[in-house]
Formats: sequence, C-alpha cells, structure tokens
Amino acid sequence: LKLQMSLEQIEKGGYENFMLKEIHEQPKAITDTFRGRLLAEENMIKMSSIEDNLDRFLNANRIIIVACGTSWHAGLVAEYLFEDLARIPVEVEYASEFRYRNPIITDKDVVIAISQSGETADTLAAIKLAKSKGAFVYGVCNVVGSSIARETDSGAYTHAGPEIGVASTKAFTTQITVLTLIALKLGKANKSLSDEVFKNYLDKMQMIPKQVEQLLKIDEHVKSIAAVYKDSKNCLYLGRGFNFPVALEGALKLKEISYIHAEGYPAAEMKHGPIALIDENMPIFVIATNKGHYEKVVSNIQEIKARAGKIIAVVTEGDTQVRDIADHVIEIPDTEEALTPLLTTIPFQLLSYHIAVMLGRNVDQPRNLAKSVTVE
Ligand code: G6P
Repeated sequence: LKLQMSLEQIEKGGYENFMLKEIHEQPKAITDTFRGRLLAEENMIKMSSIEDNLDRFLNANRIIIVACGTSWHAGLVAEYLFEDLARIPVEVEYASEFRYRNPIITDKDVVIAISQSGETADTLAAIKLAKSKGAFVYGVCNVVGSSIARETDSGAYTHAGPEIGVASTKAFTTQITVLTLIALKLGKANKSLSDEVFKNYLDKMQMIPKQVEQLLKIDEHVKSIAAVYKDSKNCLYLGRGFNFPVALEGALKLKEISYIHAEGYPAAEMKHGPIALIDENMPIFVIATNKGHYEKVVSNIQEIKARAGKIIAVVTEGDTQVRDIADHVIEIPDTEEALTPLLTTIPFQLLSYHIAVMLGRNVDQPRNLAKSVTVE
C-alpha cells in the first residue's frame, strides 16, 4: 500500500479544507489563549502587558478601538465588554475612516488595534497616527512579530495558531477571548466588578472551550438548516447587545464565502428599514439568548412571523418560547450574557461553511478577497 498525501492534505489534518479545520480548532485555540492568563483556581487573570500599563488603562479618558473586517466586529464586542464589565468608555472605529478624518486623539487616550495578520495597511496607518498624537497603543494580534505587533507600545497575542482560510473564524473567537480577559481584569482592578462577580466570570470563562466543543457536535443539524436556505438571495441576521456584533459577523461570513447577500442589524432597528424586505423568501437568523433582552427579541420574532419570514433562532438550551414560533432553533449552552458571543458565533460559522460548500464555492479562497490586505 502506497501512502500518498500532499503537504497540503497533511496541513489540513484530515479536514476537507482549512476553514473547517480552523472552525474545529476553536476549543483548543481558546484554551491556548487562556494559557497562563486565566487562573480560575487562583481567582486571577494574569496579563503582564496590562499589569505593566495598568495606570494608562485605568486613567484613560476613553479607549479607541481601531480595526477592519472581522477584527472590527471583535472590537464592537469589546465595546460592550469594556463598558459593561469595566465601565470604561469605548469608541470603535474602522481604521480606514479613523486615519483620514482628523480624529481628536490625546495622550490620555488608549488605542487598541485588533488585527489577525498584524499587517492590515489601514490599521497600521491608524496606529501610527495615534502614536504621533501621544496615545498609548496596545495591539491584539495573532501573527507573532507582525508589523502591528512591532509598532504598538504593548499588546497581547491571541495564540490562535496559523489561520489559512480567508474567512476568519478562530482568530475572531480568540480575539474576543483576549478582549474579555482584559475587560475582566480592568473591571476587577477598578472595582467595577465585585470579587464574587469576577470569580463567577472566571468559572464561566473556564467552561467555554468545552461548551464550544459541545456546540461543534450540532454540525449535522446546522447542515440540514443550510440545505433548506442555500438558494436564498438575501438573508438577515439580527442580534442585540453583546450579540449585535455577532449578527454582523454572521452576515459577513455568509457574504464572504457563499456570495449570498446578507445584512446584520441590531434587532430593534429592524423596524427602521429591513422589515420592508421580509416575505416568505427571506430567512432571518435571530440570536435570542435567555439573558439578552430576551422578551424584546421575542417580539421581533413575532413581527417576522406575522410577515411570513423564515426564522432560524439561536437560543439558550431549554428555551421553549422561541421554539414554538421559530422554523428552526439552534441551542447554545448556558453562560453569562457577556460571554455568549464566543458561543453564538459558532453555529453561524458552520452555517456559512455548509451553504458555501453546497453551492460549490471555494471556501478557503473566496473570489476577490485576500487574507491580509496590505494595501489601501
Ligand atoms: C481581510 C480578511 C478578513 C479580515 C480583515 C482584517 O479583509 O479577509 O478576514 O478580518 O482583512 O484583517 P486583520 O488581519 O487586520 O484582522
């Protein structure tokens, strides 16, 4: 028997393509991101890059987050995390807009640049501008030794390992992991979080990799939903609070690899436009976790139902109310609302993946897109 495997097949580790491999690597990637940082037994988060610069963070007028693409979505999640857990004001900017709009930046601002590759031209230019105005610049990068990692004053790596698929998956969830650890650490340091609440978050964080693993097992269920909606022309993704950015990311993932038009919206904004698009041909993916403005999202779901839209709802396990109304439900394990983006993201990655494969797309290298955009 002759064993013939190309280098690429070996790199894919038995998966059809890199994207699927990277989706499945997330429990490990998140665990790697925790390593040496999340010390639940000792009731602490250890991150020397934050400890060494604690005064800069705690005395900051505000935190400005700059990023592009999926990393910008991680920045939006971080806005909710930092404001809720650490009570520090945050603004999130597209790096490409920030760099050209003559922004007001002072030496009391902290700028966080988020970038998987660490090479995105707009993000790099944004941090150079921020530095020239005296701001303290902190990087959250995946690629070690990348330009952004070198250009920033300090930072934290995501430790996701190489991400080859153009559509970002494990880089996104590990970015959120790092940003959650920072928000919790700052919240503890400035006493926005009581010892008890902090401890509860650490315990719940610790459970995330196992919960992601559990979620990945629903792949066949998600695939069956993908089969129903693969020929849709337009899709809508809705979420609120911590899960509004997850709706944006869900829509982006679908666009990137399946070429189906999709839009992400904060659920309550539906009535200001997207509701006009709803008919029986429109699948609407709604995140309705049990602690996140649940009743309000349920009433959005009822409005969709009344217009014959198809509802695919991501709910917390054990949910009955949405199950009665929705066409399909996808359950996520229970956790704190602030941590749900790490779970709600997963079914949307799988869904986009399966739709793209069913449509015969090249999921690792979608047309017109690049993994790292080093030009403007
Ligand atoms: C490209 C990639 C996206 C990525 C974005 C930002 O558009 O295709 O997946 O989110 O760049 O890249 P960065 O490396 O800065 O996170």
